Amino acid sequence: MVIEPQASWSRLQRRLHWTMAALVLLAAPMGVIMVGLPFRDLLLKFVLYQLHKTLGIAVFLLVLVQLSVHSWRGRPAWDSSLPAWQVRAASAVHVTLFALLAVTPFVGYLTAATAPAKIPTLFLGVIPVPHLVGTDPVWFGVLRQVHLALAGLLVLLACGHAFIAVQHHRHGKATLIRMLRG
Ligand code: HEM
Ligand code: HEM
Repeated sequence: MVIEPQASWSRLQRRLHWTMAALVLLAAPMGVIMVGLPFRDLLLKFVLYQLHKTLGIAVFLLVLVQLSVHSWRGRPAWDSSLPAWQVRAASAVHVTLFALLAVTPFVGYLTAATAPAKIPTLFLGVIPVPHLVGTDPVWFGVLRQVHLALAGLLVLLACGHAFIAVQHHRHGKATLIRMLRG
């Protein structure tokens, strides 16, 4: 099936994009802060872990929605003044961002499940999310590093992506305006 290019991003696509960007940019520093908190601040540590996991699970669910919207609605045509290599590079960045938006929370979930501390995962602080794998200190040691590396890559790539969007805007292209106002 050939998807006709749409004139701009739909309202739903724009809302999903900005909501997910905000969630990721909140979840990442929160992860670093909560891990660094001393155990004497146990209550705050626990609350931040639950909040972090809630934001991360929301990112995972929203990227599934965003991908399905993308698959039936497509995306607007690329700016015709962009050289082919830039279109290829931007597509590759978008695909990588989509992959990281799904894989980072998934590895986060496995990190939480294998953690020796056996802290439950409560979505929105009340809905228990079952841990489908048991605690395992060895796997936890590996997964927490992988989770941190993926999160770092996601934030770095997103910052580069945002920088380029702003540069295009400064050079009079409609790329950013289309994502802001449709
Ligand atoms: C964590 C932060 C962010 C993530 C994960 C992210 C991810 C994405 C993804 C996956 C797309 C492709 C959407 C699709 O094909 O359906 C996209 C498009 C876009 N993003 Fe972001 N983004 C982030 C932050 C930002 C920021 C801060 C800006 C601007 C300052 C921005 C500007 C744009 C623009 C203008 C597009 C449309 C590009 C085009 O028309 O080809 N993004 N973003
Ligand atoms: C896009 C989503 C996510 C981002 C950007 C993210 C980012 C981070 C970051 C930066 C850390 C700090 C790592 C460190 O300093 O060692 C962290 C830790 C952690 N995250 Fe996430 N995370 C996300 C989703 C999730 C999800 C969905 C879960 C679980 C359901 C989760 C569970 C954890 C746990 C348990 C830790 C602490 C690991 C430890 O104790 O060392 N994360 N996360």
